[in-house]
Amino acid sequence: MCSVRQHQPIGLYDSGIGGFSILREVHNLMPSVPLIYVADDAHAPYGEKQPSFVQERARTIVEQLLHEKVVMVVVACNTATAVAIDFLRQNFTIPFVGVEPYLNVLNKWPQLSDDRHKTAVATTVLMGQSARFLELRHRLDPQNRSMYFTFPNLATLIEEEFYHPSANFADFEAKLEQELAPLKDKGASHLILGCTHYPLVQNTLEKILKLKAISPCRPVANRCQEIYQSCVKQVRTDGDPTRTFRFFSTKQGTWKELSFDLFHQWPK
Ligand code: DGL
Repeated sequence: MCSVRQHQPIGLYDSGIGGFSILREVHNLMPSVPLIYVADDAHAPYGEKQPSFVQERARTIVEQLLHEKVVMVVVACNTATAVAIDFLRQNFTIPFVGVEPYLNVLNKWPQLSDDRHKTAVATTVLMGQSARFLELRHRLDPQNRSMYFTFPNLATLIEEEFYHPSANFADFEAKLEQELAPLKDKGASHLILGCTHYPLVQNTLEKILKLKAISPCRPVANRCQEIYQSCVKQVRTDGDPTRTFRFFSTKQGTWKELSFDLFHQWPK
């Protein structure tokens, strides 16, 4: 349990804008709580890096967020959670919340056990190979009921579309479809999303692959709320909703105020 002043912000970070998928859920649950977000886009994609590199980036970003007086940090990145959250917990005393694919649906959703349903899991390459994820697979899917896919470029395509939207959205869909080709026609009825970039284009993925996607963002936000409430004695629920969040891109090297309205506008 931490003892801190009220209204201290929550910090979130990802290799880029992927963690917005968690940030918007946290904001929906706790609209008056200030949020601070770091996108480590100067060093993206994490999915192609060595674990030690992702750990050192985690340390640097958490130090930066502590400077901004955050009370806790959400590692809003599956890849960084897989390779760096234990390291962060060993090196800092604030609470951390991570994100991992919701593999436990295989055990929790009875409908996934019948022959008409088949799940697939999509992750980055580093995430898919990480010891933490392999342990999760072993624990929650010991019989290998799901199919597992890694996508080297999917997060980057989504990141690029955010900053430079295609003149025609169909062009972006065509790029996604090409990247997703290994998963097409494999008979998956459900796709477990294992990278925080993916829920940002969930509707498009569902349309291209003709399946239902399963995102962990809401449960992660719930966990974040629980921990925040245990840190901050009285979380104001009656305060004015914050309209903006503070955003730092390591590529741009500057802080900005971004409006939450952005999530109504993107993606189309
Ligand atoms: N959004 C990140 C994740 O959840 C990874 C994207 C990247 O490879 O940088 O894994």
